[in-house]
Amino acid sequence: MILYITRRIHFSAAHRLFNPTFTFEKNEEIFDKCNTVHGHNYTVDVTVKGTPDPETGYVLDLKILKRILEEHIVDHVDHKHLNEVALLDGLIPTAENIAVVFWNIIEKHLPVGELYSVKVFESDNNWAEYLGEQA
Ligand code: NI
Repeated sequence: MILYITRRIHFSAAHRLFNPTFTFEKNEEIFDKCNTVHGHNYTVDVTVKGTPDPETGYVLDLKILKRILEEHIVDHVDHKHLNEVALLDGLIPTAENIAVVFWNIIEKHLPVGELYSVKVFESDNNWAEYLGEQA
């Protein structure tokens, strides 16, 4: 029996999308309005896949997942400038890159179950979803 459980977190942060190897004109052309500092109220859905423990009925106690996400993610990005945080060092802070970085962090700390997906919402209309390396 396999189930999927999800913990949602929120954080607010600033970012600017640009590639330092591009010319000013090329950055303007590709990233347009995102090539200026602006912010988002991010929502992140983290889904873990697993079999419920027969004694607890839990795939993973969501309190544990909540703690992992607060300690290893939210504390490092909330009210920060994402171009300057260590977690995203050297990366353009797109929702795509954020999803992959968060995946790698969460996977390292998950005590039980299997990480299934990380969805990073920049708004209700725009998000990126990472399902890990697909074989
Ligand atoms: Ni943006």
